[in-house]
Amino acid sequence: MTQRFFIETFGCQMNEHDSEKIAGLLAHRGMTPAQNVDEADVFLLNTCSVREKAAQKVYARLGEIKARKRRQSDFIIGVVGCVAQQEGKSLAASAPFVDLVVGTHMYHALPDLVEDVRRYKAPSTRCETQFLKEAAPVEIPRALRQTAFRASVTIMEGCNKRCSFCIVPYTRGRERNRPSDLILEECRRLADEGYVEIVLLGQTVNSYRDLREPRLCFADLLGRVASIPGIRRVRFTSPHPRDFNDDTIRVIGSCENICNQVHLPVQSGSSSVLTRMRRQYSRDWYLELIEKFNACPRPIRFSTDIIVGFPGETEEDFEQTLSLLEKVEFESVFSFKYSPRPHTAAFEWTDDVPEEEKARRLQTLQRLQRNIQTRLHQERYLGRCFEVLVEGLARDGRQRCGRTGSNKVVNFLSNDPPGMFAEVMITHAGPNSLSGSKVQCLQLTF
Ligand code: SAH
Ligand code: F3S
Repeated sequence: MTQRFFIETFGCQMNEHDSEKIAGLLAHRGMTPAQNVDEADVFLLNTCSVREKAAQKVYARLGEIKARKRRQSDFIIGVVGCVAQQEGKSLAASAPFVDLVVGTHMYHALPDLVEDVRRYKAPSTRCETQFLKEAAPVEIPRALRQTAFRASVTIMEGCNKRCSFCIVPYTRGRERNRPSDLILEECRRLADEGYVEIVLLGQTVNSYRDLREPRLCFADLLGRVASIPGIRRVRFTSPHPRDFNDDTIRVIGSCENICNQVHLPVQSGSSSVLTRMRRQYSRDWYLELIEKFNACPRPIRFSTDIIVGFPGETEEDFEQTLSLLEKVEFESVFSFKYSPRPHTAAFEWTDDVPEEEKARRLQTLQRLQRNIQTRLHQERYLGRCFEVLVEGLARDGRQRCGRTGSNKVVNFLSNDPPGMFAEVMITHAGPNSLSGSKVQCLQLTF
């Protein structure tokens, strides 16, 4: 009987796509995806360690899965992703019922590793967490993607920066770039299969460098992906503000297939905090970058990440962050309380903003952003028409939901299947969601 696998994913879009790649590898080896963990013979937990809570969640989930292993000894449990990479052998020691711990550079080996566990039933955990020296990640033949209209495509992995709060360079290793011809080949194949949206992925996606001929830069690559026939939308995540140059901004500003929404993680509005975060830019530099995007011939919408309560963050620093939110007018903000992470520079510093104060700052910031978003949604969306890519059923189970090019979720009544484009007039604009009705639009807004 064929083995069935189930992968549960925590964390970012890179993890989501890594799970699709792992699923592709296992399917290629003749295994089949299970609908849920109960039906699976092999369970893989793809983990995130970027914040303390995320790592705790992994241990909690493993605790739940342990019971199944007790009942069924040939049930295979593997932990992959950033916690696997970071904890390695110590994870194996604290959760000995786990069969496999596989780090972020070793996914290509998973089919063999799973087979070995099944055949030889080794009593101890197998741990594969080495970093590979190659300049490019190992190519994975074909990912098993979750959707048939939007496809993530890795262009680079790892990070050469050293933000003082961030564990990613320790869990993903240094930058490794895929050759551009392989990236473009994958995108063309996806277009042939009917995909209409491509999301280019990398931990610092816009630092992309093509290490061999034709040595495309990120701007070239973006332009080439956007010009593939059939590809109607191109997004990319997650960029670093410092890695944008004028060419990239020009391509984004002028190419209509590239979505007019850019994620620009700022982390803080205070230059002194930014210096200690080692972000390599100041508040003013960041605002100038925003100005450059704002000078594009079509409107560019921004989203960002913010950390509150970084070591030494004063009330004035925090107010600078609030004023930056007002100034830039982000259309969405992902905000987090600082949590110390092992191996990072800031781990050595006193985590001196008390928990209640972090919580207060987070709440204040989120309240302000909610007001800003409500206003922006009214000003920019209400009463206007947008092209919406249908994703599936809305939460109410009745309407469809989809996204505008600017990445806003819109609910509306229609029978369109996922992957279709619909023209929608926005008739209701709340702080977090938009709804509207399908119309024939005379003029579409970005
Ligand atoms: N460029 C990276 C960023 C990874 S982490 C990428 O997307 O791959 C995503 C976000 O988590 C960061 O932008 C930051 O806002 C937040 N974050 C990272 N480390 C953190 C920490 N120690 N505490 C709180 N938030 C953190
Ligand atoms: Fe992390 Fe900074 Fe790199 S946030 S992923 S170290 S750019």
